[in-house]
Amino acid sequence: MNRVPKNLIIAIDGPVAAGKTTAARLLAQRLGYCHIDSGAMYRALAWKALKQEVDLSDPRSLLGLLAQTALELRPAAEGLRVFVDGEDITDVLRLPKVQAAASLVSVHPKVREELVQRQRQLGTHGGVVMDGRDIGTVVFPHAAVKFYLTASLEERGRRRYQESLQDLGTLESTLEEVERRDQRDMGRAASPLKPAPDAILIDTAPLSPEEVVTQMEEHIQRKLKS
Ligand code: DC
Repeated sequence: MNRVPKNLIIAIDGPVAAGKTTAARLLAQRLGYCHIDSGAMYRALAWKALKQEVDLSDPRSLLGLLAQTALELRPAAEGLRVFVDGEDITDVLRLPKVQAAASLVSVHPKVREELVQRQRQLGTHGGVVMDGRDIGTVVFPHAAVKFYLTASLEERGRRRYQESLQDLGTLESTLEEVERRDQRDMGRAASPLKPAPDAILIDTAPLSPEEVVTQMEEHIQRKLKS
């Protein structure tokens, strides 16, 4: 295997529960890169908006809130920890109500512009694997390698349900929520979720996370050779 240069940007996009964040974390570990979960930034803003009872449909208020928010992603052994104004809020970001609020917050073009700017800053020096919905299309259109992970709605609903059993939703209600988020993420006017024309598509349904990452490494090697 050729050595992968230390300064590339690798983009991973795809719908909810396609396995992006796990694959991005493992790939970053294998390459010695930094993993940035851009969804965590939308969730963090959504969490603060819920806490301060800011109207999720009002982009001006959300932008004002964002301007006063110190948002930090710190790598830790078990994955990224997310800090808002110095407080570690990683665990609450998984709550379904925060996820649903993040999807609402992310439809506003001005909010996206601000977060995209912060994401680009984090990637300035390369050596980054960033996952999200618009990384290969908008944030880093010149990323060295782009992946688009998919899996059927049923598979993704099942995964999300297994992850969040403690939240007491049913499999059916989880599937409906995943479908609603897909529709919102793919149907919004600003940076809708779609594969970049040069993205490599991987169906993660039949694969373990390690197998997904092995396929990604093979694609990266092939791309470097060409
Ligand atoms: O990846 P995630 O499920 O943590 O993302 C939470 C929400 O944020 C998701 O509904 C879509 C939105 N999002 C986005 O619009 N653009 C990104 N780059 C990342 C996430």
